[in-house]
Amino acid sequence: THCILLGAPVDEGQRRPGCLMGPAAYRTAGLAATLAALGHSVEDRGDVAPDPIGQQSCANPAVHHLPETLAWTGALRRATAAALPHGMPIIMGGDHSLALGTLAGVADHAAQAGRAQFVIWLDAHSDFHTVASTTSGNLHGTPMAYASGLPGFDPFPPFPAPIPGENICMFGIRSVDPAEHAAMQDTEITVNDMRVLDEQGVVAPLRGFLDRVRAADGLLHVSLDVDFLDPSIAPAVGTTVPGGTTFREAHLVMELLHESGLVTSLDLVELNPFLDERGRTARLMVELVGSLMGRKVFDRPTRSF
Ligand code: ARG
Ligand code: MN
Ligand code: MN
Ligand code: MN
Repeated sequence: THCILLGAPVDEGQRRPGCLMGPAAYRTAGLAATLAALGHSVEDRGDVAPDPIGQQSCANPAVHHLPETLAWTGALRRATAAALPHGMPIIMGGDHSLALGTLAGVADHAAQAGRAQFVIWLDAHSDFHTVASTTSGNLHGTPMAYASGLPGFDPFPPFPAPIPGENICMFGIRSVDPAEHAAMQDTEITVNDMRVLDEQGVVAPLRGFLDRVRAADGLLHVSLDVDFLDPSIAPAVGTTVPGGTTFREAHLVMELLHESGLVTSLDLVELNPFLDERGRTARLMVELVGSLMGRKVFDRPTRSF
């Protein structure tokens, strides 16, 4: 695979400064060398620069950094769409508001290629607020609702081709606000919350979704939020929620995604290196990308999966 690294030092979608150091931490932790050691070619396109910042506003007074977020959204949309014909974009965030742009960029490419867009959202949170519904005002809590085409996103451009709920799988969820919960009731999104994972493990729920992606010959975008992981193994995130996935569950998810051969783009989001302990979270995220891109302990014939 030709891996295209895109730095997205986005800090404006939440209130704890530090996510802007994410791209530097991934580079320091050796993301490019890890990918190259697995036999991939790697192209680091540097950090994306946001578009010029405008003067936009919205009706919800809680929302902050709206013009900055619009500026990132436009630039990341184009950078993602431009990378996809040439390889697999790996977006090194940056907080999760960057996915407003990357999901739109994948949608642009999917329309161009005539393929359906699928998303796996690996996160403690559903990020299903709209600009109108968010009470925290943190726009990192909104990209899944944007990509689903919900109203309440003025002044964002309409999402290019809203993703049907059947094409979205949330994994690891354990914090959903009331407005998000209400909005998700009207969708067909698969919500594999921690209750489901405790009961069924990660394999069966993931297999069901990947079968659908394969049957549709879809593009599969993976959005990996650091808080998908339990805070005891991944402390460098502003929005820790107890009861997250373990080291072993997370690696297994990555290995299964690799074996599927279906992943076409990846976001790495919410790493806040200022909150890290001697780089351990950055290193774990890089190791997880290693598993997603083919590292295994012992090579055995790929199971039909
Ligand atoms: N639902 C909460 C909010 O709207 C938390 C969102 C956390 N999102 C994230 N990408 N970490 O503020
Ligand atoms: Mn500011
Ligand atoms: Mn998130
Ligand atoms: Mn989260």
